[in-house]
Amino acid sequence: MQNFVFHNPTKLIFGENTIEVIGKEISKSGYKRILLLYGGGSIKKNGVYDTVVKSLKDNNIVFVEHSGVVPNPVLSHANEGIELCKRNNLEAILAVGGGSVIDEAKSIAAGFYLNNLWDAFERKAEIKDALPVFTILTISGTGSEMNPFAVLTNEYEKKKWNIGAACLYPKATIIDPRIQMSLPWHQTVNGGIDAISHILEYYFNSTVQEVSVSVSEALIRTIILCLDKLQVNPNDYPARANLAWAATLALNGLVGSSTIGEWAAHRIEHGISALYPEIAHGAGLAVVFPAWISYTRQANPSQYERFAKNVWNSNSLDEALAAMKSKYSSWGAPISLRDLNIPKEKIGEIAHNASRLGVVGNLLPLTEREMAEILELAY
Ligand code: NZQ
Ligand code: ZN
Repeated sequence: MQNFVFHNPTKLIFGENTIEVIGKEISKSGYKRILLLYGGGSIKKNGVYDTVVKSLKDNNIVFVEHSGVVPNPVLSHANEGIELCKRNNLEAILAVGGGSVIDEAKSIAAGFYLNNLWDAFERKAEIKDALPVFTILTISGTGSEMNPFAVLTNEYEKKKWNIGAACLYPKATIIDPRIQMSLPWHQTVNGGIDAISHILEYYFNSTVQEVSVSVSEALIRTIILCLDKLQVNPNDYPARANLAWAATLALNGLVGSSTIGEWAAHRIEHGISALYPEIAHGAGLAVVFPAWISYTRQANPSQYERFAKNVWNSNSLDEALAAMKSKYSSWGAPISLRDLNIPKEKIGEIAHNASRLGVVGNLLPLTEREMAEILELAY
C-alpha cells in the first residue's frame, strides 16, 4: 500500500429533518450575510426552500438569492453570482441543490478572489482562497457535497472542465435523504450511476489497496441494491438514505486514497455534455463506462476479472458487462450513443473536445483516436 494523507474537513449532518439547523450552522461559524444559490425551482415545490428561509431568518442571516443554476452549470451564471457577492459584501455561500448548484457555488467562491474565474479552469490561475461554502444536498450522485472539486461549462468555448482546491471543501453539508423522494426516477438513476462511476474510476488501477477495493465493491453492490428497491418504491427511506451515504463515500477521498484514479470515462463524458448540455452527466456515463471497461480490459486483467466476479457474480468480463448494461437498461438509463440521440458523425468532435485539456487516463493513457474508438464501441 502506498503512503497517503486523508483529510476531509467537511462537517456532514445526515438524516431526517436536519435541514432546519442550517441557519444555526452558518451563524455559529460567524457569517451573517450570504448568497443563497439554487436551481430551477424544485426546492420551492418540495418545501426545502421554505425550511431554509425560515432557518436563515430565525438566525438573523441576511441573504441575497441567485436562482436559475442549470444542470451542467455555466460560466456566465457563475460570474453573475460573483458580482452579487461583491456588490452586497457577502461572506459565504449556501448552495441548495445537486452537484450543479454546489459546483457553481464553489466556482463563485473561488472566483470571488480571482481576476478571471475561467483562468483557474484553464490552469492559468491558482486557487488560494475561497468564500466558505455550505450545502444542502437534494440529489445524491456527484459527491460534490463532501469534496473539493467543481465542474463548470464555459458555454462560449464549449469546454466542460474542472477545478479542485483544498479551500473548496464545503464547510458543512446537510443531507436529508427524505427530500430526494421528490426526484423524478431518471434523476435518481443518473445520480446512482454517477456514484458507481466514481468508484470505478479508482477501482481498475487500484490493485494494491485491498481496503479501498473491498469497500468499493461493497459500495457498488449497495448502490445497485438501493436503486432496485427505489425503482419499486421511491419512498423507501432506508434505500434513499443508504444510496445517499454510499454516493457521498464514493467521492470524498475514501476509496480514492493512495491512487490517483483513471478519470478517462469522465473526461469523455464531459466531452459529450459540453457539446450536448441537455444530456445529464450520469446518463452520459451509463453509455461511456461499459465501453471504456471493454476497451481497456487488457490493461490490468486480474482486476477486471475480480470486478466481474465480486460485483456482478459473473465468470467472465463479457458476462459482467452484459449484466451491467442490462441492469442500467432495466433502470431506464441509456446504454448507447444512439439512446442519447447522438449521431455517429459526431464521435470525432466529442473525442476532440475531451482531449483539449491534455492527456486522458493513467492506467491506459488515451489518444484522441482511441477515445473515438471507445465512443464507437458505445454507439
Ligand atoms: O434545478 P432544480 O429545479 O433543482 O432541478 C434539479 C435538476 O433539474 C433536479 N433536482 C435536484 N434535486 C431534486 C430535483 N428535483 C426534484 N427533487 C429534488 N430533490 O435534478 C436535476 C439535476 O440536478 P443536478 O444538480 O444537475 O444533478 P447532479 O447532482 O447529477 O449534478 C450534475 C453536475 O455535477 C457535475 C456534473 O458534471 C454535472 O455538471 N459533477 C460534479 C462532480 C464534483 N463536483 O465532484 C463530479 C462529478 O463527476 C460530476 O462531473
Ligand atoms: Zn461523475
